[in-house]
Amino acid sequence: MIASLVLITGTIFAQNALDIQGITSEDKLPKSCVDCHTKDTYTDYRVNAILNNRGNHPDITTVVKIIPNDCVKCHKPNTSAGDLSDRLHFSHIGNPKENSYIQVMKAGCMGCHTFDNKSGKINIKSVPVNW
Ligand code: HEC
Ligand code: HEC
Ligand code: HEC
Repeated sequence: MIASLVLITGTIFAQNALDIQGITSEDKLPKSCVDCHTKDTYTDYRVNAILNNRGNHPDITTVVKIIPNDCVKCHKPNTSAGDLSDRLHFSHIGNPKENSYIQVMKAGCMGCHTFDNKSGKINIKSVPVNW
Protein backbone atom coordinates (compact mmCIF):
# COMPACT_ATOMS: atom_id res chain seq x y z
CA MET A 1 0.00 0.00 0.00
CA ILE A 2 2.64 2.49 1.10
CA ALA A 3 4.92 1.40 -1.73
CA SER A 4 2.25 1.98 -4.37
CA LEU A 5 1.40 5.36 -2.90
CA VAL A 6 5.03 6.39 -3.12
CA LEU A 7 5.11 5.17 -6.71
CA ILE A 8 2.03 7.16 -7.63
CA THR A 9 3.21 10.40 -6.03
CA GLY A 10 6.61 9.79 -7.61
CA THR A 11 4.95 9.77 -11.02
CA ILE A 12 2.93 12.90 -10.30
CA PHE A 13 6.00 14.86 -9.27
CA ALA A 14 8.04 13.60 -12.21
CA GLN A 15 5.39 14.74 -14.69
CA ASN A 16 4.86 18.13 -13.07
CA ALA A 17 8.41 18.93 -12.01
CA LEU A 18 8.28 22.49 -10.72
CA ASP A 19 10.23 24.92 -12.86
CA ILE A 20 11.77 27.75 -10.85
CA GLN A 21 13.65 30.08 -13.17
CA GLY A 22 17.03 30.90 -11.70
CA ILE A 23 17.13 27.55 -9.87
CA THR A 24 16.03 24.75 -12.19
CA SER A 25 16.27 26.70 -15.44
CA GLU A 26 17.82 29.84 -16.89
CA ASP A 27 16.89 33.09 -15.15
CA LYS A 28 14.97 35.13 -17.72
CA LEU A 29 14.82 38.20 -15.45
CA PRO A 30 18.46 38.68 -14.39
CA LYS A 31 17.98 42.45 -14.16
CA SER A 32 14.76 42.21 -12.17
CA CYS A 33 13.05 45.64 -11.88
CA VAL A 34 14.79 46.92 -14.99
CA ASP A 35 13.79 43.92 -17.14
CA CYS A 36 10.10 44.71 -16.68
CA HIS A 37 9.96 48.41 -15.90
CA THR A 38 10.97 49.89 -19.25
CA LYS A 39 9.81 52.70 -21.53
CA ASP A 40 8.19 52.02 -24.88
CA THR A 41 6.84 54.38 -27.54
CA TYR A 42 3.57 54.88 -25.71
CA THR A 43 4.16 54.37 -22.03
CA ASP A 44 6.93 54.95 -19.53
CA TYR A 45 6.89 52.05 -17.06
CA ARG A 46 10.26 52.92 -15.53
CA VAL A 47 10.05 52.98 -11.76
CA ASN A 48 10.90 56.70 -11.42
CA ALA A 49 8.13 57.55 -13.91
CA ILE A 50 5.55 55.34 -12.14
CA LEU A 51 6.35 56.96 -8.80
CA ASN A 52 6.42 60.49 -10.24
CA ASN A 53 2.96 59.91 -11.73
CA ARG A 54 1.63 59.23 -8.24
CA GLY A 55 2.13 62.87 -7.40
CA ASN A 56 2.88 62.20 -3.72
CA HIS A 57 6.21 60.39 -4.07
CA PRO A 58 9.57 62.26 -3.85
CA ASP A 59 11.37 62.33 -7.23
CA ILE A 60 13.95 59.52 -7.07
CA THR A 61 15.58 60.20 -10.42
CA THR A 62 18.88 61.39 -8.95
CA VAL A 63 18.70 59.72 -5.51
CA VAL A 64 18.32 56.13 -6.72
CA LYS A 65 21.22 54.82 -8.81
CA ILE A 66 21.13 51.12 -7.87
CA ILE A 67 17.69 49.58 -7.78
CA PRO A 68 16.15 48.49 -5.46
CA ASN A 69 18.99 48.96 -2.94
CA ASP A 70 18.92 52.77 -2.97
CA CYS A 71 15.17 52.79 -2.29
CA VAL A 72 16.13 51.65 1.21
CA LYS A 73 17.67 55.09 1.84
CA CYS A 74 14.09 56.08 2.73
CA HIS A 75 12.15 52.82 2.88
CA LYS A 76 13.03 51.45 6.28
CA PRO A 77 10.63 49.70 8.65
CA ASN A 78 8.58 52.07 10.85
CA THR A 79 9.07 55.15 8.66
CA SER A 80 6.40 57.07 6.75
CA ALA A 81 7.90 55.70 3.52
CA GLY A 82 7.27 52.18 4.79
CA ASP A 83 9.30 48.99 4.58
CA LEU A 84 10.39 48.42 0.97
CA SER A 85 9.78 44.68 0.92
CA ASP A 86 6.27 45.11 2.35
CA ARG A 87 5.48 47.69 -0.35
CA LEU A 88 6.85 45.63 -3.25
CA HIS A 89 5.65 42.23 -2.08
CA PHE A 90 2.17 43.65 -1.66
CA SER A 91 1.99 45.43 -5.02
CA HIS A 92 3.40 42.53 -7.08
CA ILE A 93 2.12 39.38 -5.41
CA GLY A 94 -0.33 40.58 -2.75
CA ASN A 95 -3.38 40.01 -4.92
CA PRO A 96 -2.39 36.93 -6.95
CA LYS A 97 -5.67 36.53 -8.86
CA GLU A 98 -5.33 40.06 -10.23
CA ASN A 99 -1.67 41.07 -10.16
CA SER A 100 -0.43 41.19 -13.73
CA TYR A 101 3.00 40.38 -12.30
CA ILE A 102 1.63 36.88 -11.72
CA GLN A 103 -1.23 36.60 -14.23
CA VAL A 104 0.43 38.19 -17.27
CA MET A 105 4.15 38.00 -16.65
CA LYS A 106 4.01 34.65 -14.85
CA ALA A 107 6.82 35.75 -12.56
CA GLY A 108 7.43 34.64 -8.99
CA CYS A 109 9.78 35.24 -6.08
CA MET A 110 12.81 34.73 -8.28
CA GLY A 111 11.86 37.70 -10.47
CA CYS A 112 13.43 39.86 -7.76
CA HIS A 113 15.45 37.38 -5.69
CA THR A 114 18.43 35.13 -6.33
CA PHE A 115 19.33 31.89 -4.62
CA ASP A 116 22.93 30.98 -3.88
CA ASN A 117 23.06 27.22 -3.71
CA LYS A 118 26.49 27.28 -2.04
CA SER A 119 25.54 29.37 1.01
CA GLY A 120 21.79 28.67 0.89
CA LYS A 121 21.10 32.40 1.00
CA ILE A 122 18.25 34.19 -0.77
CA ASN A 123 19.33 37.64 -1.92
CA ILE A 124 17.86 40.54 -3.81
CA LYS A 125 18.93 41.26 -7.41
CA SER A 126 20.40 44.74 -7.67
CA VAL A 127 21.23 46.60 -10.88
CA PRO A 128 21.94 50.14 -12.12
CA VAL A 129 18.80 52.13 -12.95
CA ASN A 130 17.55 52.57 -16.54
CA TRP A 131 17.14 56.36 -16.54
C1 HEC B 1 8.26 40.39 -14.00
C2 HEC B 1 8.09 41.82 -14.13
C3 HEC B 1 8.36 42.75 -12.96
C4 HEC B 1 9.48 42.80 -12.15
C5 HEC B 1 10.70 41.87 -12.17
C6 HEC B 1 9.28 43.91 -11.25
N1 HEC B 1 8.08 44.50 -11.49
FE1 HEC B 1 7.32 46.14 -10.53
N2 HEC B 1 5.54 45.85 -11.45
C7 HEC B 1 5.29 44.92 -12.43
C8 HEC B 1 3.87 44.96 -12.75
C9 HEC B 1 3.17 44.09 -13.79
C10 HEC B 1 3.30 45.96 -11.92
C11 HEC B 1 1.82 46.37 -11.81
C12 HEC B 1 1.25 45.68 -10.56
C13 HEC B 1 0.61 44.37 -10.89
O1 HEC B 1 -0.58 44.37 -11.22
O2 HEC B 1 1.26 43.30 -10.84
C14 HEC B 1 4.38 46.51 -11.13
C15 HEC B 1 4.24 47.56 -10.23
C16 HEC B 1 5.30 48.23 -9.63
C17 HEC B 1 5.22 49.48 -8.89
C18 HEC B 1 3.94 50.25 -8.60
C19 HEC B 1 3.51 49.71 -7.27
C20 HEC B 1 2.25 50.21 -6.78
O3 HEC B 1 2.22 50.62 -5.60
O4 HEC B 1 1.27 50.19 -7.54
C21 HEC B 1 6.48 49.79 -8.48
C22 HEC B 1 6.91 51.01 -7.69
C23 HEC B 1 7.35 48.73 -8.93
N3 HEC B 1 6.60 47.81 -9.64
C24 HEC B 1 8.71 48.65 -8.68
C25 HEC B 1 9.49 47.52 -8.91
C26 HEC B 1 10.84 47.32 -8.40
C27 HEC B 1 11.60 48.32 -7.58
C28 HEC B 1 11.24 46.09 -8.85
C29 HEC B 1 12.54 45.36 -8.57
C30 HEC B 1 12.84 45.09 -7.17
C31 HEC B 1 10.16 45.53 -9.64
N4 HEC B 1 9.11 46.41 -9.64
C32 HEC B 1 10.20 44.32 -10.30
C33 HEC B 1 6.21 44.10 -13.03
C34 HEC B 1 7.47 43.82 -12.51
C1 HEC C 1 13.72 60.16 -0.86
C2 HEC C 1 13.03 59.14 -0.13
C3 HEC C 1 12.45 57.98 -0.94
C4 HEC C 1 13.10 57.19 -1.83
C5 HEC C 1 14.55 57.22 -2.27
C6 HEC C 1 12.12 56.21 -2.27
N1 HEC C 1 10.92 56.41 -1.68
FE1 HEC C 1 9.16 55.37 -1.99
N2 HEC C 1 8.19 56.54 -0.66
C7 HEC C 1 8.76 57.57 0.06
C8 HEC C 1 7.75 58.18 0.92
C9 HEC C 1 7.98 59.33 1.88
C10 HEC C 1 6.55 57.46 0.67
C11 HEC C 1 5.18 57.69 1.29
C12 HEC C 1 4.43 58.65 0.40
C13 HEC C 1 3.03 58.89 0.93
O1 HEC C 1 2.45 57.98 1.52
O2 HEC C 1 2.54 59.98 0.70
C14 HEC C 1 6.85 56.43 -0.32
C15 HEC C 1 5.92 55.55 -0.84
C16 HEC C 1 6.21 54.55 -1.75
C17 HEC C 1 5.26 53.61 -2.30
C18 HEC C 1 3.75 53.60 -2.05
C19 HEC C 1 3.23 54.63 -3.04
C20 HEC C 1 1.77 54.84 -2.99
O3 HEC C 1 1.35 55.82 -3.62
O4 HEC C 1 1.07 54.06 -2.35
C21 HEC C 1 5.95 52.78 -3.14
C22 HEC C 1 5.37 51.63 -3.95
C23 HEC C 1 7.33 53.21 -3.13
N3 HEC C 1 7.46 54.29 -2.29
C24 HEC C 1 8.33 52.61 -3.85
C25 HEC C 1 9.65 53.07 -3.92
C26 HEC C 1 10.69 52.44 -4.71
C27 HEC C 1 10.50 51.19 -5.53
C28 HEC C 1 11.83 53.18 -4.54
C29 HEC C 1 13.16 52.98 -5.20
C30 HEC C 1 13.13 52.84 -6.63
C31 HEC C 1 11.49 54.27 -3.64
N4 HEC C 1 10.17 54.17 -3.29
C32 HEC C 1 12.40 55.22 -3.21
C33 HEC C 1 10.08 58.00 -0.01
C34 HEC C 1 11.06 57.49 -0.82
C1 HEC D 1 8.85 42.76 -6.99
C2 HEC D 1 10.05 42.25 -6.37
C3 HEC D 1 9.94 41.16 -5.33
C4 HEC D 1 9.25 39.96 -5.42
C5 HEC D 1 8.39 39.46 -6.55
C6 HEC D 1 9.52 39.26 -4.19
N1 HEC D 1 10.35 39.99 -3.39
FE1 HEC D 1 11.03 39.49 -1.54
N2 HEC D 1 11.96 41.30 -1.35
C7 HEC D 1 11.98 42.27 -2.33
C8 HEC D 1 12.69 43.44 -1.81
C9 HEC D 1 12.93 44.73 -2.57
C10 HEC D 1 13.10 43.12 -0.50
C11 HEC D 1 13.85 44.01 0.49
C12 HEC D 1 15.33 44.04 0.23
C13 HEC D 1 16.01 45.03 1.15
O1 HEC D 1 15.36 45.59 2.03
O2 HEC D 1 17.22 45.20 0.98
C14 HEC D 1 12.63 41.74 -0.24
C15 HEC D 1 12.86 41.07 0.95
C16 HEC D 1 12.47 39.76 1.18
C17 HEC D 1 12.75 39.01 2.38
C18 HEC D 1 13.52 39.53 3.59
C19 HEC D 1 12.56 39.87 4.68
C20 HEC D 1 11.76 41.08 4.39
O3 HEC D 1 10.53 40.94 4.18
O4 HEC D 1 12.34 42.17 4.34
C21 HEC D 1 12.19 37.78 2.23
C22 HEC D 1 12.19 36.64 3.22
C23 HEC D 1 11.56 37.75 0.91
N3 HEC D 1 11.75 38.97 0.29
C24 HEC D 1 10.90 36.67 0.38
C25 HEC D 1 10.17 36.66 -0.81
C26 HEC D 1 9.36 35.55 -1.28
C27 HEC D 1 9.18 34.23 -0.55
C28 HEC D 1 8.80 35.93 -2.46
C29 HEC D 1 7.81 35.17 -3.33
C30 HEC D 1 6.61 34.68 -2.64
C31 HEC D 1 9.29 37.27 -2.76
N4 HEC D 1 10.11 37.68 -1.72
C32 HEC D 1 8.99 38.01 -3.88
C33 HEC D 1 11.43 42.19 -3.57
C34 HEC D 1 10.63 41.17 -4.05
